[in-house]
Order: sequence, then C-alpha cells, then structure tokens
Amino acid sequence: MKNTAFSLKNKVAIITGSSKGIGEAIARYYAEAGAKVILSSRKQSDLDSLAAAYAEKGWEATAIACNTGKEEDVKQLVTQTVAKYGGIDIIVNNAGTNILQGDLIEADMGAFDKMMDINLKGPLWLSKYAHPYLKKSGKGVIIHISSIEGIMPSEGLGVYSLGKAALIMMTKVMAKEMGKDHIRVNAICPGYIQTKLTESIMQDPEEKAKIMQKQTLAHEAKPEDIAGLALLLAADTGAFFSGSIIRADGGFTL
Ligand SMILES: NC(=O)c1ccc[n+]([C@@H]2O[C@H](COP(=O)([O-])OP(=O)(O)OC[C@H]3O[C@@H](n4cnc5c(N)ncnc54)[C@H](OP(=O)(O)O)[C@@H]3O)[C@@H](O)[C@H]2O)c1
Repeated sequence: MKNTAFSLKNKVAIITGSSKGIGEAIARYYAEAGAKVILSSRKQSDLDSLAAAYAEKGWEATAIACNTGKEEDVKQLVTQTVAKYGGIDIIVNNAGTNILQGDLIEADMGAFDKMMDINLKGPLWLSKYAHPYLKKSGKGVIIHISSIEGIMPSEGLGVYSLGKAALIMMTKVMAKEMGKDHIRVNAICPGYIQTKLTESIMQDPEEKAKIMQKQTLAHEAKPEDIAGLALLLAADTGAFFSGSIIRADGGFTL
C-alpha cells in the first residue's frame, strides 16, 4: 500500500519567494507530493521558466508575481489563486530580505520600514487575505519561515532579528486565534542554509568555518533540509502541530 501520510494531493499551496532558495525547494516538494502550487516572487519571467520546468515533470504549478512588501500585490496573489483553483489550503510565508545591516540604533528608518513591510507585514497580509479560504478548506495550514536570528540575535542583524522574532510571536497569536477555524499555524527557524541570501557568508572560508564550528553537526545545509520539514507541517501527518516554533539549525543555537 502506498504511504499517503505526506500526500498533498489536490491541495492548493501558495509559497512566497519561491523562484529560488528555500521557497523553491518547498514548492518542489509540495508539487511532487501532488499539490497545485502557486510559484511567487517579484520576477514573472523567473516564475514562468520554473512553472514550465514543473509542467515537464507533470506537476501542477501557476506563476503569479507578487512583491510581498506591497499589500495590493498580496491581495492580487490571493484573488488570482482563487480565480484559478477555487480556494487555498496552504500558505508558506517564505519571502524575506536582509537589506539592512549594522547597529539597530543607527538603522535608517526608511529601510527599516521596507524590511518590516516584506518580512513582517507581508506574512500578515497574506494570512489575512487567505484566511477565509483557509477556513473554508477545513484543514488550513500557515507556515511562517522565521530564523534562528529571531531567537538568538547575531551582531549587525538587528532589524532582521526584530522582524523574525515578531514572526515567531505572530505564529503563536495566529495559532491561538485560528485553532477554532481548524487552521494550523507553525514557524520554521532555519539556521545557516546555502542560498543566495547567505552566499557572501558561506563563500567566505573564515565565516563558514565559524558557522560549522558552532553547529553540532558537520552538515552543510541545503534548502531541501528545510523543505522536508515544511512538507511534514503541511501534510495530514503534521495534524498535531500548531503554534510550534521549530529550529532546523544543525545544533547551532545550543
Ligand atoms: N538562507 C538562510 O540561511 C536562512 C536562514 C534563516 C531564515 N531564512 C529565511 O528563509 C527565507 C528564504 O530565504 P532564502 O535564503 O531562500 O533566500 P533567497 O535564496 O535569496 O531567495 C529569496 C526568494 O524570495 C524572493 N523575494 C525576495 N524579496 C521578495 C519580495 N519582496 N517579495 C516576494 N518575493 C521576494 C526572491 O525572488 P525575487 O528576488 O525575484 O523576488 C527569491 O525567490 C527568508 O525569509 C529568509 O529570511 C533563510
């Protein structure tokens, strides 16, 4: 008998920031598990190429561009998804940025607002506009991609840490509020994963050595190391997870 515990057959899943990195790996795992996947990021052409590659594998995917830092874009993402598939079962708030570095006290407030729009308000907007459909689904799922920086701040990443910490609290608040709607809300806190976002750190031998030294596992993490966890949280086998804040960091924060 086929094991269906991790099946997402016929589920409609929106994954923000899914043209590359962690979001793309999650979208790929979901599509392979049978979901109808909405690929979304700012560049329509990247998404179109990816959707074509998914179609070649026989996977169902639709490309909808959306800058999660713009409320109107996020609203459209929901409207277009529902127009195409009739509902929404799963959202993964993955899009995030780290454009502002340095001491928090010296942060430029314009850049601060832009980062919060993308890293914090974006997930709130998508959760808000998708909520009626997630409720209707009867088994709605929200996954926020936070970070270990939301738990244990590193030097120079203060604004990023603030946004990611707030996302952890948003997870807990939403899990409490939405349990009655049968919506499960969880957060993943990745450690260092090899993507474009961490390229400059991971390609610096000294910086990389520091990270590997802090991890208890000598494992160079790839986006797929997060995608498996995101599949567990979205599938029926994750039915008892809600309000969970899960670190996947190779022991970095111990
Ligand atoms: N990599 C890590 O070590 C790590 C650790 C902890 C947490 N995270 C979190 O994991 C998430 C994904 O990071 P990643 O490392 O996979 O990053 P990445 O490789 O740089 O990919 C980011 C994705 O998000 C999209 N994106 C960026 N800004 C966007 C916006 N305003 N609206 C919509 N899409 C946007 C990008 O496409 P476009 O640029 O074309 O829009 C791309 O598809 C982020 O929330 C990040 O904070 C990453």
